[in-house]
Amino acid sequence: MEGKWWHSSVVYQVYPKSFQDSNGDGIGDIEGIIARVPYLKQLGIDVIWLNPVFQSPDVDNGYDISDYYEVNPQYGSLADVERLFEVCRSHGIKVIMDLVVNHVSDQHAWFQDALKGEESPYFDYFIWSKEDTGLKSVFGGSAWEYVPSLDLYYLHNFAVEQPDLNWENESMRQAIYDMMNFWIDKGIAGFRMDVIDLIGKQPFEGIMENGPKLHDYLQEMSAATFKDKDLLTVGETWGATLDNALLYSDPERHELSMIFQFEQIGLDEVPGKSKWDLRTLNFMQLKSVFSKWQYALNDNGWNSLFWNNHDLPRIVSRWGNDGEYREKSAKMLAILLHGMKGTPYIYQGEEIGMTNAYFDDFDDYLDIEAQNLIKERLANGYDKEAVLKSLQTKGRDNARTPMQWNDGAYAGFTEGTPWMKVNPNYKVINVASALEDSNSVFYTYQQLIEARKNHRVIRFGKFNEIDKENPHVFAYTRSDASEEVLVVCNFFNHKARVTTQMDDLADYEVIVHNDVEVKFEKDELFLEPYEAMMLIKYKK
Ligand code: GLC
Ligand code: CA
Repeated sequence: MEGKWWHSSVVYQVYPKSFQDSNGDGIGDIEGIIARVPYLKQLGIDVIWLNPVFQSPDVDNGYDISDYYEVNPQYGSLADVERLFEVCRSHGIKVIMDLVVNHVSDQHAWFQDALKGEESPYFDYFIWSKEDTGLKSVFGGSAWEYVPSLDLYYLHNFAVEQPDLNWENESMRQAIYDMMNFWIDKGIAGFRMDVIDLIGKQPFEGIMENGPKLHDYLQEMSAATFKDKDLLTVGETWGATLDNALLYSDPERHELSMIFQFEQIGLDEVPGKSKWDLRTLNFMQLKSVFSKWQYALNDNGWNSLFWNNHDLPRIVSRWGNDGEYREKSAKMLAILLHGMKGTPYIYQGEEIGMTNAYFDDFDDYLDIEAQNLIKERLANGYDKEAVLKSLQTKGRDNARTPMQWNDGAYAGFTEGTPWMKVNPNYKVINVASALEDSNSVFYTYQQLIEARKNHRVIRFGKFNEIDKENPHVFAYTRSDASEEVLVVCNFFNHKARVTTQMDDLADYEVIVHNDVEVKFEKDELFLEPYEAMMLIKYKK
């Protein structure tokens, strides 16, 4: 397999609002990102995924777009964005943008015009109902909002201020494709497609995810925009299953490069309840979910590999140990993920082992989803402590605290007052100190990115899980005709060992390791708490 450029790329996600402020207004901006491109180059990444920077009232931090052709002035201008593209290009970094086309902002001109009623050409761009059919919004409450002047309800899967677009409407679809081509012509390398598996929805049949025309729309979109352009397209698909993952990413079908599937993310949730209703993490389930996806897309389709994004808690605070073993376990989680087959995504701050924020004041949770949850649960008699615990564990705010650049005021994020509180641990966890310490989490990420570039087997080798029944260790190999990579990770704060016998341990060389020496005796490999390694053997 020769592969497309994105098969060999590592993507870094920038959440502009929290990355770097350049003008002291407390809000991250494009100029700030430009200033940090050399840092990203040093890390070694190939692509930036930029969260939405379009014109927006910012009810959902930019996922409520009021003009797809304008940049939100709090981030800068269109010219600034074009300069960012240029600076990235000169550093050999590509940029993909967020494509949010399941819904728009209620301030978008289409919706404002649609509110005039049926005679508006945009009325049918939205989904209207004479009654509240009982559908629930992802952010709490009903998914239908009543408009008294029309005596109708409109559909909003997310916030009230995010009316859903009606994909059945052909001119709406054309307008979206034109907009995509506008950005493609500006030189972007692709799109991250927000909740794309909702666009085929049939709300009156109660179908939201994976609607009947979803794949037709994607094929139509592809033909009208990126099909012949060699772009990276990644769909956010909470409802993905193994079967439909292949539909999206089978190259013959000309839909997407890959999808984000979230099966491993749901492992801490009580099945059938909400993301806030937590159950104990089960390591054996994590192993089986990852392996299942690796095996399924070994030959066909392509995986995306991620632990974090702007909607998820910090991984070192979930599957790692953000106390005594913070650095060790953050490296272990990185080694596990970056050894797998697929395109790795790193979320800002992950590369220095940033943790959850553990805010204990409801007012510090700014996310609309969190605020709605607090209102809803307190009104329904939930215990305050329990609500706080849910937010501390799963709240999206955990990912959105400002990037920690140094140990100065506000972690070097801003010279003003940050729009959101900085995680108090910034004195210890920050980029400046990570760069000074050759043993930091940062350099493990750097080595992993480098290793993927240097070894074809890490990009394309076949995945095979070993030591499957081991309750403490996740171990697998990646192999092709000439090389074999062995990845071994202890997920626990006690010693462990690999129980599968390996008689050739002496033949392996270390590529990345979060400890000082590989300890084995004959055919047994011993691991310290959270120890992880990536080894390679050259086949004779
Ligand atoms: C996606 C985004 C999330 C946003 C939602 C609605 O899940 O990642 O941040 O709130 O879509 O656009
Ligand atoms: Ca700013």
